[in-house]
Amino acid sequence: MDSFNKVFSDPDMRDDCGTSPTICKAYKQYCYTPGRQEYLDMVTYTAHVGHNHPLIVSAGQSQLRQLLAGQGFYSQPLLDLVKTLHSILPSSLKHQYVINSGSEANDLALRLARNYTNGDDFIVFEGAYHGSLSNLLDLSTPALELLQLQKSPETHIVHPPDLYGGPFRDDDPDACNKYVAEVEAAITDIKERGGKLAAFICEPISVACGALVPPRLYFKKVFELVHQAGGVVIADETGCGMGRAGEHYWTFQHFDIVPDIVTVGKSIGNGFPLGIAITTKEVADSLGEHYSTFGGNPVASCIAKSVLEVIHGEMMLTSARSVGKFLVSELRSVQERVQSVGEVRGRGLCLGIVIVRDKETRQPHPQLARNIVARLERKGFLVSRGGLHKNVLLLTPPLCITQLDARQFTAAFEDALTEALSHPGVPGSSVSTSQGPDATPVPARTESHETEASSGNPLQMNKERKLIDEVITCPGNQVVLADDEELANKRRKTE
Ligand SMILES: Cc1ncc(COP(=O)(O)O)c(C=O)c1O
Repeated sequence: MDSFNKVFSDPDMRDDCGTSPTICKAYKQYCYTPGRQEYLDMVTYTAHVGHNHPLIVSAGQSQLRQLLAGQGFYSQPLLDLVKTLHSILPSSLKHQYVINSGSEANDLALRLARNYTNGDDFIVFEGAYHGSLSNLLDLSTPALELLQLQKSPETHIVHPPDLYGGPFRDDDPDACNKYVAEVEAAITDIKERGGKLAAFICEPISVACGALVPPRLYFKKVFELVHQAGGVVIADETGCGMGRAGEHYWTFQHFDIVPDIVTVGKSIGNGFPLGIAITTKEVADSLGEHYSTFGGNPVASCIAKSVLEVIHGEMMLTSARSVGKFLVSELRSVQERVQSVGEVRGRGLCLGIVIVRDKETRQPHPQLARNIVARLERKGFLVSRGGLHKNVLLLTPPLCITQLDARQFTAAFEDALTEALSHPGVPGSSVSTSQGPDATPVPARTESHETEASSGNPLQMNKERKLIDEVITCPGNQVVLADDEELANKRRKTE
């Protein structure tokens, strides 16, 4: 605990963890400070379908009144959640452990992998982050560095397959195979040391590695190697999953693969603490019982089911894809004009802007990235930095952002970039005490959505219920929730 306190008291870590304004209220994609500054939230991927979505808030409130504790028996909300998740998972992944956080889900995933394989060794991407519990720190290389911990010999680190900035690049036709060969070498190393592979763990689209999308065949080849070595694959969908990348619920589906264990967190509760580990019958059988007092509590379960209903009802898989594509095309037009934007990458609303010194060398420019983040904050846009060299601006907004938000963000980004290039010093943030001319907080977002946030809930709720009902009766739905019809009827009655 001491080391975490130390980390969070380090101002630079605070910058890396997120952004600096103190937020007291939020609605949809907008956040507000006590001084009523509005920010467009491009960073809080936990508020997955939008902050304080009225359907989710009211589902949680009504469940709180009915049943809060769920220990010692199954509750109906838990059974409903499990059933709903079933309908959007591959048929082999039937066993769900509903627990309390992404870290807890990954911790359980490691235990499942160890029990099933009798192995103890793990392969992980350099730059990955999988949580803050003791054994997960070992698989989270930035945390190891920050906490100055030694990694255990059972952890094997490979380069994430970054064709833009990694050691093997897009000018090498064999680059993908060279990244795969690193996994093969790690497996050989494990065998030579007399160890046994338990799992390869990754985010299929890696937010931690800077919204990195691996080449299409990378995972197919890696999965084959891992399975041949007797290991399992854990897909950590905590940050990238639940439709964030558009089109599909899970990012592993973008690569046409099915992992042995999937972990979910953050977005599934839209801010409420919840995590889920999902696996096959064979892997689950190796564990026996698993017990958690709060895991699957009725309020968390009810909220999570509402989140899935909102994603489905508001067609967020489609909108994440189309708004994401629009945002990428806007940002790419900036990329064409300036030397410092090396690459705009990612899928859907899981995007990264790679900031470099110049396009020829592709040398990362973390200081410039930091400067841009600070300037964007002063203009009313919250983003974070990630990637191995902390030179990638991460865009992981709530899935309800619009094309207008995307356009406004791009304009602000281009301004921030121009300013940062001409004033290399990082400006003071809204909580900074810095007094320079560059440090005056600027209330930049003129158009406020605060009224909607504070007084609009009942109206807004009705509007959104209508939308959901329309969508439920639309024939082109991609996902059939088990009790759609019943739900639609109930909603019609409440209007
Ligand atoms: C990919 C990934 N896995 C796991 C976690 C841990 O989740 P939690 O902080 O809810 O324990 C995080 C959190 O940032 C994450 O990004």
